[in-house]
Amino acid sequence: MLTTLVRNGTVVTAKETRSADILIEGERIREIKPGISADAAGTVIDATGMLLLPGGIDVHTHLDMPFGGTTSSDDFESGTKAAAFGGTTTLIDFAIQPKGTRMRDALDTWWKKADKRASIDYGLHMIITDLGEAGLEDMDEMVREGVASFKLFMAYPGVLMVDDATIFQALGRTAKNGALICLHAENGGIIDVMVKRAIAEGKTAPVYHALTRPATAEAEAVHRAVAMSEISGAPVYIVHLSSEDALNEVRAARDRNVPIFAETCPQYLLLSIDDLARPGFEGAKYVFTPPLREKNHPPKLWDGLKNDHLQVVSTDHCPFCFEDQKILGKDDFSKIPNGGPGIENRLQLLFHHGVNEGRLSLNRFVELVSTTPARLFGLYPRKGELAPGSDADIVIWNPNAEHEISAKTHHMRVDYSMFEGFRVKGNARTVLSRGEVIVDNGTFLGRTGRGAFLRREARGGAWK
Ligand code: URP
Ligand code: ZN
Ligand code: ZN
Repeated sequence: MLTTLVRNGTVVTAKETRSADILIEGERIREIKPGISADAAGTVIDATGMLLLPGGIDVHTHLDMPFGGTTSSDDFESGTKAAAFGGTTTLIDFAIQPKGTRMRDALDTWWKKADKRASIDYGLHMIITDLGEAGLEDMDEMVREGVASFKLFMAYPGVLMVDDATIFQALGRTAKNGALICLHAENGGIIDVMVKRAIAEGKTAPVYHALTRPATAEAEAVHRAVAMSEISGAPVYIVHLSSEDALNEVRAARDRNVPIFAETCPQYLLLSIDDLARPGFEGAKYVFTPPLREKNHPPKLWDGLKNDHLQVVSTDHCPFCFEDQKILGKDDFSKIPNGGPGIENRLQLLFHHGVNEGRLSLNRFVELVSTTPARLFGLYPRKGELAPGSDADIVIWNPNAEHEISAKTHHMRVDYSMFEGFRVKGNARTVLSRGEVIVDNGTFLGRTGRGAFLRREARGGAWK
């Protein structure tokens, strides 16, 4: 069996930071301790001055997703490759059940999209649009297939939105089968009326995307989600939380021991409504949902991450090219495909603005981008940990590497960056996935199609 020794690095987990070597045997970590002999190792990688992190886990991506009259521009080949460059070795993407169809069909469709294309390991959530006659049994079938989480939308009426009865029924099922319900929490009815009113008044610029989706509409939906979790006894995971108002609802619920978890994304931590209000059509680059907020929100979200009111940072990577996709909404903001790119930059941005700028400890950083995602979504300790027996998904992280984020150099298949010109310190030097070096010093060494589908366990939120 192939053995690799990663020597002289600093091992960082959610719990501790220590100097140690990591011995890899085949696809797994065999041993972690200082001074492991190199004699028996086939390959030796020197990691002097480097941090050794468990591979990043991005639990919210949309690759090759039909949406808003077009399809997200990264597929599983380009998207997983870009993820690897940024130190993400696992992602969980969303399969969508079209209304009137069975979940099994959607799962087969997404397996086909990912199979022979993914270069890192991946899992799938199932987006439920219609429970129909057989939906509850279908949910159990999905869990048996390793699809241990479901997303339901409280927004996008007529497209993806389901009513409270559907969400409550689904929660009743996950209370029994142990899967996790993820909710897109915004009051879709109110937003729909506000959007139609704005368009009728000739308010068509990208900034109206935010002005028609108030933070109160997000907080109200989170409040409802909390109530449904409390009544059903099933845990709920709020995706892409964007505002202080919504965060307050999550915190209050957690203080009462309601099993609510929530993620935010780098864009909500680092950008604001001012980006949506950029001159001309430029703001379209920042049209995603929920929208960017006023500048008083991000500091509250950072506090939420530090104090465990928020548990995960994902990307909601859903790229659409500016030139030929965002343009669909040139005369009407409601027709701009919703979504933005970020799969490659999550660790860089969180390390620089979180760790370097003193907002997060190194261990909390690892917990947010890798360990808690693995625990919540049924992958731990195979993923999200550096320990004997875990997959050898290891990021050799250079804390001193300086990098300017730009569409000119990124690997995502999209013609702009939401973080263009951001200068970050800290970047992945070498990335290993199941013991194999897939990125080294800016060169992709992986293989398209090597990524494996991950059958995840349904843990029912009992993850601590
Ligand atoms: O604007 C976004 N977030 N697009 C992707 C779909 C979703 O709601 O997550
Ligand atoms: Zn969403
Ligand atoms: Zn999303």
